[in-house]
Amino acid sequence: MSSPLAKDKKSFFDKLLIRFHKNASHSNRIAILSTLFTQEINELHIENESISLLDIGCGDMKITKILSEQHQQLEATGVDIYPNTQNWKNYVAFDGKTLPFEDKSFAIVLFSDVLHHDAENIDQLLKEAKRVANFIIIKDHFEYGFFSRTLLQLADIVGNYGYGVSIPKRYFTKKRFQELLKKHQLTERKQQCPVYLYNHIPLVKYIFKGKYQFVSVIKTA
Ligand SMILES: C[S@@+](CC[C@H](N)C(=O)[O-])C[C@H]1O[C@@H](n2cnc3c(N)ncnc32)[C@H](O)[C@@H]1O
Repeated sequence: MSSPLAKDKKSFFDKLLIRFHKNASHSNRIAILSTLFTQEINELHIENESISLLDIGCGDMKITKILSEQHQQLEATGVDIYPNTQNWKNYVAFDGKTLPFEDKSFAIVLFSDVLHHDAENIDQLLKEAKRVANFIIIKDHFEYGFFSRTLLQLADIVGNYGYGVSIPKRYFTKKRFQELLKKHQLTERKQQCPVYLYNHIPLVKYIFKGKYQFVSVIKTA
């Protein structure tokens, strides 16, 4: 998960965490989420010959690439706040605030585990997403109190610390998320919660509950 470019130099501990995370959950998470996003995109019944999707906070672009492969009509572009030194195709540099695209130039914006990493810019990111796209798909976390917040922070440390991505102080509650949508006059068409990402890992599946994950499909106009 996350941008592998966030830290120029990775310590031994960073590398250990990255390997542990890749082996334990990254590939499964990517596969489950890509399938889920593809289903949601299909359910939008967009009738254009090609469907343009902007993956904001695309990280290593694995999801962006799988979505393009799974969906013949999809033209996916990825933006992230870190420069692309790996020559990813369809990657566009982004300052994290203002998208370098015309109004309504995409059918769909995707935020996959991005918004909770940039609490400071959530409003700006949503404003920009609303400006450039007709639909927004958000995958993020719900916390329900101290226990779930701490677990999610631990998971974020395992998944992101090695890459240098900041760990959030808090996550959305169901109420805060609805307030945010209301503030930006965004209409939620569908919400999927629970989402099971860790059913393949013994014990962990009982700790990291499906209700900590959600996917929201939003119409912008
Ligand atoms: C947890 S990773 C998720 C990566 C990918 N979307 C996925 O689901 O595998 C969070 C990503 O959000 C990016 N990010 C954080 N704040 C951002 C912002 N304001 N604009 C664009 N990307 C941002 C980070 O650089 C990182 O790559």
